[in-house]
Amino acid sequence: MRVILLGPPGAGKGTQAGRIAATYAIPHISTGDILRANVREGTELGKQARTYMDAGELVPDDVILGMVGIRLAEPDATEGFLFDGFPRTVPQAEALEQLLIERGQPLDAVLRMIVDTREVVQRLTGRRTCRACGAVKHMVYDPPEVEGVCDKCGGELVQRDDDAEDVVLNRLEVYRRSTEPLEEFYWGRGLLRDVEAVGSVDEVGERIDAILRDVA
Ligand code: AP5
Ligand code: ZN
Repeated sequence: MRVILLGPPGAGKGTQAGRIAATYAIPHISTGDILRANVREGTELGKQARTYMDAGELVPDDVILGMVGIRLAEPDATEGFLFDGFPRTVPQAEALEQLLIERGQPLDAVLRMIVDTREVVQRLTGRRTCRACGAVKHMVYDPPEVEGVCDKCGGELVQRDDDAEDVVLNRLEVYRRSTEPLEEFYWGRGLLRDVEAVGSVDEVGERIDAILRDVA
């Protein structure tokens, strides 16, 4: 199974990706997660990426494509994968298409997660992420048992730097400008499938399962 999750910041891509990856036993490849790990570890890549991320701007295509090429060469990604947050620009989508042609591995589907702007702003400004294990919670929609403490590992739940409201609004604008054109790109290739991404996490997950059962 080779799938892309497309949708604005806060659409619930990361939340659903974890479930899909487990169900289909494919790696969940989140360019945002890889970048944040590099920032945490203070690598050269992380230092380069941080300024863009903190401002809610996109990291340059060549940096992202280099990173994805390395990730796709790992043994767990030889057959299937689930991309979350990649591609995000038409040049990234074209480069991925070329790479997959070379590998003889066409995509099965691009799932477009549809949520309105008000809802994503609420989801993002209320999101809290575990500093230690990366688990994601929400102050209202999915609160932890003890405020500020990760249910899974006891680590500290913090707000992502780019979840401050002004940065969120810029990320949404960047999405509209740079990533929305991918909808047409994949529609033209017959790959785009719409997912109504409001409702409970389980409800959205069931809608996704129904589509994936159909394309698998
Ligand atoms: P990235 O990490 O990819 O962020 P994003 O696309 O903005 O997506 P998010 O992680 O914010 O949202 P999500 O859709 O995963 O939502 P989640 O499931 O957490 O990118 C960050 C930055 O890295 C970019 O700005 C850029 O700088 C850089 N970058 C990354 N990839 C790049 C690329 N390819 N090219 C260039 N630059 C790149 O859910 C959100 C909240 O809602 C959570 O609190 C969750 O609990 C809650 N929630 C989820 N589902 C539901 C539901 N059904 N009902 C109620 N609440 C829900
Ligand atoms: Zn944790």
